[in-house]
Amino acid sequence: MTDFNYDKSLHLKKLLPKDAIDKIDNWIGKYPADRKRPPIIAALTIAQEHNGNYLTEDLMQAVAEYLDVPHIAVYEVATFYSMFHLNEVGEFVISVCNNISCSMRGANKVIEHLQNRLNIKVGETTGDGLFTIKTVECMAACGGAPMLEVNKVYYENLTEEKIDQIISDVTMLRSKKSKSTEVKK
Ligand code: FES
Repeated sequence: MTDFNYDKSLHLKKLLPKDAIDKIDNWIGKYPADRKRPPIIAALTIAQEHNGNYLTEDLMQAVAEYLDVPHIAVYEVATFYSMFHLNEVGEFVISVCNNISCSMRGANKVIEHLQNRLNIKVGETTGDGLFTIKTVECMAACGGAPMLEVNKVYYENLTEEKIDQIISDVTMLRSKKSKSTEVKK
């Protein structure tokens, strides 16, 4: 029997903290009440940020219920945009563009070098949970091909040396962060 009094907002409220729900409400408020789909990207971004940087089926369902849109509408967005992750990922997601311009300028070599350097394949995460390698479609930086993105920062005109530098910079940044967290404890 259908429960007609079911509050569709409860599911997401159980999964996310109040400040995340407030942010989503803020995005919803930017659009006319009958325009329910435009906040999907923002809602998924916020949901992902609060869920260890990935989305689960349950979380996507809860977002759909909260926005009062079909589940498939949320799923389409989550699977279309490469910034959404549908599985657990490392702290730093290395997204390598392998679309035409980047492929012609050596994206395969970039991927091969990363795989050898990190000792994982595309789609995998290093044992320490630090890095995940993904391949993505064009990221609109074709003039700097081959390119990759690490957690929203673009790196262009890649060479093996540059890739090594990116990995060591990120690793150093991470260890500085954890040291400052230890000190604050
Ligand atoms: S093809 Fe790689 S950024 Fe456009």
